Amino acid sequence: MLKILVTGGAGFIGSAVIRHIIQNTQDTVINVDKLTYAGNLESLACVMDSARYAFEQVDICDHAELDRVFSTYQPDAVMHLAAESHVDRSITGPADFIQTNIVGTYTLLEAAREYWNTLEGDRKSAFRFHHISTDEVYGDLPHPDEMIGNLPLFTETTPYAPSSPYSASKASSDHLVRAWLRTYGFPTIVTNCSNNYGSYHFPEKLIPLVILNALEGKPLPIYGKGDQIRDWLYVEDHARALYKVVTEGKVGETYNIGGHNEKQNIDVVKTICVILDELRPKKTQYAEQITFVTDRPGHDRRYAIDASKMSRELNWQPQETFETGLRKTVEWYLANQDWCNNVQNGSYQRERLGTLEQELQS
Ligand SMILES: NC(=O)c1ccc[n+]([C@@H]2O[C@H](COP(=O)([O-])OP(=O)(O)OC[C@H]3O[C@@H](n4cnc5c(N)ncnc54)[C@H](O)[C@@H]3O)[C@@H](O)[C@H]2O)c1
Repeated sequence: MLKILVTGGAGFIGSAVIRHIIQNTQDTVINVDKLTYAGNLESLACVMDSARYAFEQVDICDHAELDRVFSTYQPDAVMHLAAESHVDRSITGPADFIQTNIVGTYTLLEAAREYWNTLEGDRKSAFRFHHISTDEVYGDLPHPDEMIGNLPLFTETTPYAPSSPYSASKASSDHLVRAWLRTYGFPTIVTNCSNNYGSYHFPEKLIPLVILNALEGKPLPIYGKGDQIRDWLYVEDHARALYKVVTEGKVGETYNIGGHNEKQNIDVVKTICVILDELRPKKTQYAEQITFVTDRPGHDRRYAIDASKMSRELNWQPQETFETGLRKTVEWYLANQDWCNNVQNGSYQRERLGTLEQELQS
């Protein structure tokens, strides 16, 4: 039975990780989250009464507060998910990304290392710092438009080439984590995952935004031609993968996690429309709401993960196909309109973010 300190546990993936741990293991979780616009404790309603769950509203840039949390709870492992995570927001406001993703990761590494230095024997050797990162650090891959034959995939040794302020800040944090392993012998593991989707996803991201706009009769915005390819993974499959890595992964290793689901954005949106036509029929088809808008600056064209190391070494495979996972996701949003209304709470109304015009005005 482990005590796991999860940062960013009120966010989309962090809350899935905490629900997974509380509902499927005997481990204890300490959720350290600042509760930015993206953090919502409602996403943890089904586990927050558990005696094995604790919450601390703390900014990972606050070293003194982190010291207090480490010494109070004496965790066996850290799963670090706290981050600014939306590429569009990073275009108009990169400062928060530099602060949380780089300075915050540095501060957390230092607080965790100081705590680890106080441990002895088995507790010290078994300690793990698991840094959760993205495949966006690798930049983009050739698109089927540009290349014939077998298209390459991201592997654990693909060189870093981030394109956006978000992915550059995540790449920086990955480098810091590896440097703490190499320089201080601090026991770190890194995972890089493809695009997640599923329940409790903040409605600024493509899939929830399209579902909610469709239901409200609003335009379904497609950036550029909509031919960008992402490799979609159901969030609960990611949560299972992350728990495997923190409990069974090898110190110093990197694991790529992906869903073997390469889809063009336009096809994702059309599939959502077809599911909604069936589950919430109306006089016109939802696909008629599709609208093409200016592309995101620096938009990566294709991501795709080779997740064979996760399968070979940790015996992990995704359980959901894109079709089953997307249907579950649409059903969840239809049944949880209250959650959607509460998390948007007036400050964000699914408006377009991250254009260069907005950047010039800010
Ligand atoms: N969403 C994806 O598709 C995806 C894919 C691969 C990797 N990732 C990575 O997984 C992690 C989680 O992503 P997500 O989609 O759940 O993000 P999210 O934006 O939904 O949640 C981030 C959480 O971090 C918290 N947070 C932000 N700044 C903080 C700070 N300074 N101190 C403490 N808490 C803070 C927020 O309150 C929020 O609860 C991120 O590191 C992200 O880079 C995400």
